[in-house]
Amino acid sequence: MTTAVAAADARPEFAAVRAAIARIPRVDIAIRNTPLIEAPNLARHLGGPRIFVKRDDLTGVAMGGNKLRNLEFRLARTLQEKPDTVIVGLDLQSNSARQTVGACNKLGLETILVLEGARPNQVQGNLLVDYLLGAEVHFAREQRRLLNSLAEDCRRKGRRPHILNDNPMFDVASAIAYLETMMEMLEQLDALGAKPTAFYMSSSGKGAAGFEIARKLFGGFAVHCVTATSEFDVPTRTAKIANETCEALGLELRLAPGDITNFGGFVGERYGVPSEAGNEATRLFARTEGIILDPVYTGKAAAGMIAHIRAGRFSRDDDVVFVHTGGQPAIFTWNQLWADGGGATT
Ligand SMILES: Cc1ncc(COP(=O)(O)O)c(C=O)c1O
Repeated sequence: MTTAVAAADARPEFAAVRAAIARIPRVDIAIRNTPLIEAPNLARHLGGPRIFVKRDDLTGVAMGGNKLRNLEFRLARTLQEKPDTVIVGLDLQSNSARQTVGACNKLGLETILVLEGARPNQVQGNLLVDYLLGAEVHFAREQRRLLNSLAEDCRRKGRRPHILNDNPMFDVASAIAYLETMMEMLEQLDALGAKPTAFYMSSSGKGAAGFEIARKLFGGFAVHCVTATSEFDVPTRTAKIANETCEALGLELRLAPGDITNFGGFVGERYGVPSEAGNEATRLFARTEGIILDPVYTGKAAAGMIAHIRAGRFSRDDDVVFVHTGGQPAIFTWNQLWADGGGATT
């Protein structure tokens, strides 16, 4: 297996951006410099370019994933208010919620989750991990009202709550985190003697904004993010987040929606519902490389990459990188897709 970890500051052109990032308050939560490994069996199976996988599912807290990187900036901002309790409203099966509770545990903060919808009969996936991590979990259709009333309850009891949904950093923190991850990967690829043609990642704007800033600054590769939702205009959102991020970092660069490449054709029926192509990609990664994706985000992004390789977009001389952003607990909420072979083979 070919793996690489980043050589420190191997590319001098990264120094100014790293210095700008270093000015943003941050706490140490995630394992960064995650491995970047070659996936030769998958590449052989597809008969296309060399494939590398950035294992950002291995960021180390509460089963890992992409949100731990941005929580380093978001929670640093939160800590300025000196809270003892973080209250956050998110989706019922949210990867973000799970990682937030894990991160808060590391910082000695209590977490109250307000998850959208009703408590399911089967407690599985991210929700199961939320309970294991010790979060106080509430369910609501009207999240905002409950967030406010739980904060009020906390204050009455002498606690110091912070509603994380009101923290203005979410978008920009994610973009900064993935701008940094791109620099990390470019150094790792240098160490392997690889020249990336394209990066694939599941993103509906936040992480993608960081990648697109990196592409504009450092050039020479394509960013092929794949969205898991059709709920908004992803290029417009990505460019907006990229510009807010450049402003926060003091960079003069600005991006327009036309600068953004994001593939919207792999969502399937809708957000949160597995797709046939995503399930096939999830099986293929598992069966060729032993890498577990998820059917909601990473499986759909991998389906995009696989479709493009099958369509002949890349030659054997190209190096393509798949960025694994985590999300594996969802395989347990969708267990029937895989049970007894899931009715499909590779
Ligand atoms: C596993 C996984 N991948 C990708 C994403 C998309 O991240 P973003 O749109 O913030 O870049 C998410 C978002 O929750 C996620 O949980």
